[in-house]
Amino acid sequence: MSFAQYSEKNYLYRVSDQRGHKANYNKSLRVLLLSVSRKMDSCLAVYYIISLLSMVFFTSNYAQYEASVAKPKPSALFVFGDSTVDAGNNNFIKTTFKSNFPPYGRDFVNHVPTGRFTNGRLASDFIASYAGVKDIMPAYLDPTIGIEDLMTGVTFASAGTGFDPLTATLSSVISLEQQMEYFKEYKSKIEMLIGKESTHELITKAVFLISAGTNDFIVNYYGLGEAVDQYIYPNVTSYSDFLLQNVENFIKELMNQGARKIAMVGLPPMGCLPVVITLNKDAATHGRKCVEPMLSVAIEYNIILENKLKAMQTAETKLYYADIYKPILDMIQFGERKLGFEEVSTGCCSSGYIEAGILCNINSPVCDDASKYVFWDSVHPTESAYHYVFTTVRPVVDMVLNDYIN
Ligand SMILES: *[C@@H]1O[C@H](CO)[C@@H](O)[C@H](O)[C@H]1NC(C)=O
Repeated sequence: MSFAQYSEKNYLYRVSDQRGHKANYNKSLRVLLLSVSRKMDSCLAVYYIISLLSMVFFTSNYAQYEASVAKPKPSALFVFGDSTVDAGNNNFIKTTFKSNFPPYGRDFVNHVPTGRFTNGRLASDFIASYAGVKDIMPAYLDPTIGIEDLMTGVTFASAGTGFDPLTATLSSVISLEQQMEYFKEYKSKIEMLIGKESTHELITKAVFLISAGTNDFIVNYYGLGEAVDQYIYPNVTSYSDFLLQNVENFIKELMNQGARKIAMVGLPPMGCLPVVITLNKDAATHGRKCVEPMLSVAIEYNIILENKLKAMQTAETKLYYADIYKPILDMIQFGERKLGFEEVSTGCCSSGYIEAGILCNINSPVCDDASKYVFWDSVHPTESAYHYVFTTVRPVVDMVLNDYIN
């Protein structure tokens, strides 16, 4: 789907939202509106769309449109985690883990570097858009976001963070505990606006998404310098167990806060990240192949995570596991032959071997067409890779949206 198509579709969602309805216009109306908006200049199109929608909503039978809704729309999407889902919270804190400068955001709407660690949108933006919640996910710490945006959800994520509080400390970014504190602060703000009961309802009908863990390994456990205490965690299994315990605590707290649908993203094939390949001591002799031991760590972690989620699920709260390991490994292994990628082991920005954040900046050479690359910098996927990941997790998203919880 092209960018223009996405924007048009989402623009319509917003128009219908403002009228206080669910996305309940029918398909033919949508097609009509899209063709109208393509042919006219945008101001005129907006006018026509609004008057057409008013006609539809005020003159026709509401129930008739309700029946044509494909999937129930959540009230909001709340996101927690690291750079894979940070939409720019780090812009507003003192850290060097930032990306609010070119070439980041090169392919975003208006080419704005938002603080997303990629050239365009993240998978969480595609999910928000697909769920009909909003076009792009706003960052909670952005002082310019309005009430409407707050009400339909924000991301609390912070690039560089992890499930080990020490990981956030190492990079001076927002820990998951602090993200939870921000969520509580968010809740009290909304309670002041719409009252306790409506806030409870909003949270109950919202979807929660958590994506983190990679930094705990690549920055902290396997990172350079002194980090993880080797006496407390003598091996990587014991460290994984510790992280998974923190995941469990985080989910439990979200459940206490009223979350009913929580989707948890697993670890990617960490051993295939360009920077991990570059820093591996055997890289020179391995021809930029993925670092196998780190792949096994991710596989084992994901198995335990998936089982943990199953075990923690209650009648009141559904927990979902979203696998990103396979789609990302698929792009790396078959991307050139089957998925239209041309470069799968180095990033588009600068040398592609080592640069991310401040080392990928306005002076860096950048590849012409990022959509041919799996990685934008040496750590983070391109928008097209995120879009591919989104298409592979879409069945899970559908399940989350369609599951009925009493
Ligand atoms: C890892 O360390 C723990 C102690 O924290 C120990 O019980 C376990 O046997 C170790 N596992 C391996 C594979 O060495």
